[in-house]
Amino acid sequence: MSDKSSNQMWGGRFAAGPDAIMEAINASIGFDQRMAAQDIAGSRAHAAMLAATGIVSDSDAAAIREGLLTVLSEIESGSFQFSTALEDIHMNVEARLKEIIGEPAGRLHTARSRNDQVATDFKLWVRDQMDAAIAGIEALIRALLTQAEAGADWVMPGFTHLQTAQPVTWGHHMMAYVEMLGRDLSRFRDARARMNECPLGSAALAGTSFPIDRHMTAAALGFDRPTANSLDAVADRDFALDFLSCASICAMHLSRFAEELVIWSSVQFRFVAMSDKWSTGSSIMPQKRNPDAAELIRAKIGRIFGANVALMTVMKGLPLAYSKDMQEDKEQVFDAADNLMLALAAMTGMVSDMSARQDNLAAAAGSGFSTATDLADWLVRELNLPFRDAHHVTGSLVAMAEGKGCDLPELTLADMQSVHAEITDAVFGVLGVDNSVASRMSYGGTAPAQVRAQITRWKEILA
Ligand code: ARG
Repeated sequence: MSDKSSNQMWGGRFAAGPDAIMEAINASIGFDQRMAAQDIAGSRAHAAMLAATGIVSDSDAAAIREGLLTVLSEIESGSFQFSTALEDIHMNVEARLKEIIGEPAGRLHTARSRNDQVATDFKLWVRDQMDAAIAGIEALIRALLTQAEAGADWVMPGFTHLQTAQPVTWGHHMMAYVEMLGRDLSRFRDARARMNECPLGSAALAGTSFPIDRHMTAAALGFDRPTANSLDAVADRDFALDFLSCASICAMHLSRFAEELVIWSSVQFRFVAMSDKWSTGSSIMPQKRNPDAAELIRAKIGRIFGANVALMTVMKGLPLAYSKDMQEDKEQVFDAADNLMLALAAMTGMVSDMSARQDNLAAAAGSGFSTATDLADWLVRELNLPFRDAHHVTGSLVAMAEGKGCDLPELTLADMQSVHAEITDAVFGVLGVDNSVASRMSYGGTAPAQVRAQITRWKEILA
């Protein structure tokens, strides 16, 4: 919606309105209307402060604060007419306020600028998203703990290079993701604490000559304190970059788990059954059950990390203080936040509804000579062989088993003794996968007792 006259907010020195393309490139209202609630909260806090410091009258501030609530209800009900000519959410709100309450609306912008206003609005928005991410990650951790608890002693193959390495437990594998997500939680909490300083009152860049109370507005908006340098405050988007980098690492973690779920749900693996709720069929191949949700979660890192790179590139090389380049911050963060929340919610749903196929996990755990390390360790412990020699003896036994087409526990004692004469019957005790995992009692190891201890620790952390 273009309006040919010059802009009512800053048109004093302009004779003509902007070119239509100028208006199109300049306007942010198409996306920054998502910050309407934050904009109005910031303006209401500012108006209350202007009255408390005697900069505007109590009655004007009351009219402004009341009128802003009317604007908010119009926006929430969908009846608000957004205008591209009014460029952004800040000017759209103020213009409507003027229509509703008249002259006092013109006093709201005293001792502030859109530069500190947009920084404040965006910080409030990003802060909410950090809280939402923290809640979403906690929900996913809870779903993983439920899986881990059910299968603390279910054996499965552990992989390195995606080749069978040593048996581990299902619970241990689930808890590995709990640890990753725990670091994500701590990163988001850390970023939230760092960003919680209020830019409002930094004005355009230099602060203001009005006797404002920045501590009052900071407290009213839930910030810990006002920012300490007005130039930095209006030029800073580190909080958005912190959000995007935390989100990128979290999305990277989700993509790794998603990839495992894709592999595990294939007919070649059959480690997990995904519920119907999180699978799709094929329009041509009736047998198919596709793990689309997992695949899409795996892909989300693309746009989230892309947003991180995009905003880093926008900010790179910008001179102090505010530059209009910074208007390009929002869409990246909005999109990344939407997709991170969706990915977290979808992963939580999938994890809650999936069932591990315990029998298949156990069968796979015992194949691929997965207890070869246990055999080598036994030779060291019981026969006092140097580990390198034990490794060599075990390698010969693996080759023998491979030649016979059997697994290590199926070799006879005579087979074993043909490679090393001192091997006794007791060796068979360590070749079973249950004994193998139970023996890995080192702190953080895969033994069910260790896994249960970590589950307990995490439950206490979340309680
Ligand atoms: N729409 C602008 C943004 O998102 C608001 C700040 C505009 N400031 C200015 N001096 N033109 O960055």
